[in-house]
Amino acid sequence: MIVEMDTRTHWEKIYSTKAPDAVSWFRPHLETSLALIERVAPDPSASVIDVGGGQSTLIDDLLARGYENISVLDISSTALDATRKRLGPLAEHVHWLVSDVTQVDLPPHTYDVWHDRAVFHFLTAKEQRIAYVEKVASAVKHGGHVVLSTFGPEGPAKCSGLDVVRYNAESLHSEFGERFDLVESFEELHNTPFGTSQQFLYCCLKRE
Ligand SMILES: C[S@@+](CC[C@H](N)C(=O)[O-])C[C@H]1O[C@@H](n2cnc3c(N)ncnc32)[C@H](O)[C@@H]1O
Repeated sequence: MIVEMDTRTHWEKIYSTKAPDAVSWFRPHLETSLALIERVAPDPSASVIDVGGGQSTLIDDLLARGYENISVLDISSTALDATRKRLGPLAEHVHWLVSDVTQVDLPPHTYDVWHDRAVFHFLTAKEQRIAYVEKVASAVKHGGHVVLSTFGPEGPAKCSGLDVVRYNAESLHSEFGERFDLVESFEELHNTPFGTSQQFLYCCLKRE
């Protein structure tokens, strides 16, 4: 699929040419995501998937807290190779998936938590968003949670040179539909490594 190839080429180029802390979305730790995951799934046996995890340290922090059933999915093998290398032997405790989230086959009713920071907002075509939501609805356990973070209404219109869709809690929830309850949402400013700030929206949804 042409869209998938273009997307993969874009992200492979980003991760092959930029240092991990030289991208606008970099944070040393994803504290907000971590706090939300710990709140909805405090038991470290919970099954957590980080979608579009890239080179973020969320995985290091989850492992440090004893989470033992973690998957990381990303379209870029370069990003995941770097994350695996950073983790060293701990990487063996993680399930790695190189795939486009809108195309991937995931086992049904598997995850207690689906985490996505700054991935869904790149899906500018309605059919991509529908495919994504179908993956979530199938792969997340009934009663499981979706922790999502996108640019908020006042966030940038582009990220990494790509157009994004900005959301408020209502518009993001409506993409997911009636199978998901909106549990909580809030906006937060992210300070980029370049001294600018970006408005993010965090939403926690529960799969019925
Ligand atoms: C802005 S970065 C965010 C990385 C990480 N979540 C964080 O917060 O640091 C977006 C990530 O999503 C990945 N990505 C973009 N489109 C994707 C897709 N369709 N399927 C899977 N991963 C994708 C990129 O390779 C990149 O790692």
